[in-house]
Amino acid sequence: MASRDSVHIAPPDGKLGVLTPGIGAVTSTFIAGVESIRAGWALPIGSLSQMATVRLGKRTEGRSPKIKDFVPLAGLDDLVFGGWDIFEDSAYEAGLKAGVLERSHLDRVKDRLSAVKPMKAVFDPEYVRRIHGPNVKHGGTKMDKAHMLMEDIDTFQKTSGASRLVMIWCGSTEVFHKPSHVHQSLKDFESGLQKDDPEIAPSQVYAYAALKKGVPFANGAPNLTVDIPAMMELAREQQAPIAGKDYKTGQTFMKTLIAPGLKARMLGLTGWFSTNILGNRDGEVLEDPGSFKTKEESKLSVLEYILQPELYPQLYKDFHHAVRINYYPPRGDAKEGWDNIDIFGWLGYPMQIKIDFLCRDSILAAPLVLDLALFMDLAKRAGMRGVQEWLSFYFKSPMTAPGLYPEHDVFIQLMKLKNTLRWMRGEDLITHLGLEYYD
Ligand SMILES: NC(=O)c1ccc[n+]([C@@H]2O[C@H](COP(=O)([O-])OP(=O)(O)OC[C@H]3O[C@@H](n4cnc5c(N)ncnc54)[C@H](O)[C@@H]3O)[C@@H](O)[C@H]2O)c1
Repeated sequence: MASRDSVHIAPPDGKLGVLTPGIGAVTSTFIAGVESIRAGWALPIGSLSQMATVRLGKRTEGRSPKIKDFVPLAGLDDLVFGGWDIFEDSAYEAGLKAGVLERSHLDRVKDRLSAVKPMKAVFDPEYVRRIHGPNVKHGGTKMDKAHMLMEDIDTFQKTSGASRLVMIWCGSTEVFHKPSHVHQSLKDFESGLQKDDPEIAPSQVYAYAALKKGVPFANGAPNLTVDIPAMMELAREQQAPIAGKDYKTGQTFMKTLIAPGLKARMLGLTGWFSTNILGNRDGEVLEDPGSFKTKEESKLSVLEYILQPELYPQLYKDFHHAVRINYYPPRGDAKEGWDNIDIFGWLGYPMQIKIDFLCRDSILAAPLVLDLALFMDLAKRAGMRGVQEWLSFYFKSPMTAPGLYPEHDVFIQLMKLKNTLRWMRGEDLITHLGLEYYD
């Protein structure tokens, strides 16, 4: 029973179109997965929106509905897919090339995957250097290209019959750029689009097009994209939710599990060395120092924020933290990530933790794309706009309001997410105080 007024949430009537710039390993694995689940061959493992429950009220009440039964999410049967890529491969062909899923699994949903054909991309080789493809838009300024994308969005909506849309960036990691003058206000950004300002990345042209149409935009890569004042302004103006950056999978996910545990027990850290080998297209793009720098920044920030060396200098001041990524083609998408963690305990005695995570990047990322699509659509229908901090759970570098530091601890992020859902439905927020059971 709800204890206060709930937020008005428009019902998820009709189809939800999920638009992805980038139809590579993550996107093809995501779509193939949704189609397989829809057909009854697979379970949505790794998806909080589909599998997790949310406790309501006191522990004695025994109320723990599934999230998907508690908040009005779009159903998997109502999802339709579209996207852009610089290559002409359909989602089926992209899935075969990515080599994440076995051919026999892709073949079971071949018709559905083959129907997802990429629209022509907005691409700039200055931003993604190692790959070149034929399926790109030519001519015009960046503003013209934004309008071409808006036409693509309209055409997709008409042909797919979608009543609502979300856009999730699943394209390659762009080279490292700091926010510049053109990113500071919507006015500057729009004049930059007209003048073809080199500081405006392709991902920002997509984001601009989506937000202008009021379409929520989430960023699965570490590039700046919507994490700039101009996009925050546009999102507020157009009543659109935004979120990012960089899916929290693999090694960083492990970091955000372990580091809060070390800090909770007041164990010190002298160093954390992380190295990876991977052989997919993402790995190839990350061979470029510019793209690697974007990824490195995203991966490095996590420990500083979790461990708070300024509050605990005796435990965490000056720890060494290095992250390496090596492109190693034989591995394909089956990445291997090693961590060597040097810690110290009682009386300063040193100890070591070693992790060898033989993970599958896109298998970990696909359920995050699904959850983000459904939750961004929910946020839009609930009238939420601008940065969706409650979705920090999904990101390595969560976006926040200017001046706020991001929350990286995955368990605090989970609490924030579930409390936001409780708040939407007018349920009591859970503080975990628990004293009421002992009165
Ligand atoms: N898989 C994971 O666990 C994970 C985790 C965090 C972040 N990411 C990020 O997600 C993104 C996708 O990863 P992936 O493994 O699918 O990579 P991928 O290389 O297989 O796919 C990316 C696709 O984007 C396309 N592309 C590049 N620039 C584009 C543009 N301007 N417009 C349209 N398409 C464009 C490429 O041609 C490619 O097909 C990458 O940025 C990656 O860093 C992935």
